[in-house]
Amino acid sequence: MNVHDSDRIRRMIQDAGYAEVQRYEDADLVILNTCYVRENAVDRVKGHLGELNRLRREGRVKKVALTGCIGAAEESATLRQTYDIDLVLGTHNTYELAEFVGLPTMQETYTPELPGTEGGHNAFVTIMTGCNYQCSYCIVPTVRGRMICRPMESVLGEVENLVAGGTGYVTLLGQTVDAWRHEGKRFCDLLEAVSEKAPRVWFTTSHPSNMEDRTLRAIGEKETIVKRLHLPVQSGSDRMLRVMHRGYKAERYRRKIEVFREAAPEGTLSTDIIVGHPGETEEDHQQTLRLVADCAFDSAYIFKFSPRRGTEAATLPDSVPDAIVQRRFLEVLRQVEQNAFTRNQRKIGGVEEIYIRHGSTEDGKAIGETWSGHAVHVETNLPPGNYVKARIESAGPHVLYAGKPSG
Ligand code: 5AD
Ligand code: SF4
Repeated sequence: MNVHDSDRIRRMIQDAGYAEVQRYEDADLVILNTCYVRENAVDRVKGHLGELNRLRREGRVKKVALTGCIGAAEESATLRQTYDIDLVLGTHNTYELAEFVGLPTMQETYTPELPGTEGGHNAFVTIMTGCNYQCSYCIVPTVRGRMICRPMESVLGEVENLVAGGTGYVTLLGQTVDAWRHEGKRFCDLLEAVSEKAPRVWFTTSHPSNMEDRTLRAIGEKETIVKRLHLPVQSGSDRMLRVMHRGYKAERYRRKIEVFREAAPEGTLSTDIIVGHPGETEEDHQQTLRLVADCAFDSAYIFKFSPRRGTEAATLPDSVPDAIVQRRFLEVLRQVEQNAFTRNQRKIGGVEEIYIRHGSTEDGKAIGETWSGHAVHVETNLPPGNYVKARIESAGPHVLYAGKPSG
């Protein structure tokens, strides 16, 4: 979501005549588009603001703008007291940046009608903004607001334009894409319609309570949909899932995964897990480990609980000591990597069709993606957007390594 917002901001200021540079020292204007979901994101922004203030004093940077989720949070007022910031914008008024850089004033509508990423090989398409859930730990509903679904015709129109402009890979984007509804249509209807128009389609992020079996089966059936599912579980313990207000039990999650594995046996599955949420006991943690083993995730984003001011969890008693959080984090990580490594090893020897996502660097290896959603390093100089066929020669817990393409 942030990458997509940054793309649009970039295009907007390029329209105003700015050119992109690589170093702060060379910039007239620096826009920090920020994340507020965990404290370490805030710490990093503070580091950048400190450096920018120094460069400003030396006259090497002229203006600094802060946008995104920190901009929408109370935290921005505190940051303004400490650092020199010329403009602070939240998530719903990014269009004001246009005026700031001297473009005609734009109006933000239900979904930001800022320029998209036309011409790119991969493009994000926002289908909904905000979130109607109230997970105990999460700041997103506060900084991004309630769910607003974008009309189907508007999404399909953007997809058609993108494909006509050369985009080969469309990712449908939203906090809880499966909750998308519009005029009697549900997410699966939208996904199927997009999969008829775009040559390669993926979507993120899903919520287990909204995930329909029909969608899981569509992933398996529709050729153009990448067989990769990101379904955040957060915990394997029913008690913790209740405390977190996730709205499902571990058993329901497991059933969804069974449907997915049956629909797309070669597909990849990833998740998000929080360790050390207030009140998490050793037994809760063991249940998470068990769920991780049973679901055999291909990858997982594991987060140490980070208290966010304004969320319910920040006020809950029974915080988990750091040393225990660290141990649990490593135990979950090891379990995930073990499963992922075993699953990836099975891919060795097979020939895969690989979509190039990032062109090759000095080592002559590009980063691509198989139809099963595996990340692959492949020896090719072809630019992003191309397909190659190559044999998988080895595998680690995170990526597959392919040899020279066969054609
Ligand atoms: N602490 C730790 N992890 C969090 N996430 C969201 N809020 C927090 C928090 N306060 C994680 C969740 C979510 C992912 C995007 O970030 O796992 O799915
Ligand atoms: Fe946050 Fe996702 Fe829960 Fe919404 S569903 S509150 S974005 S964790």
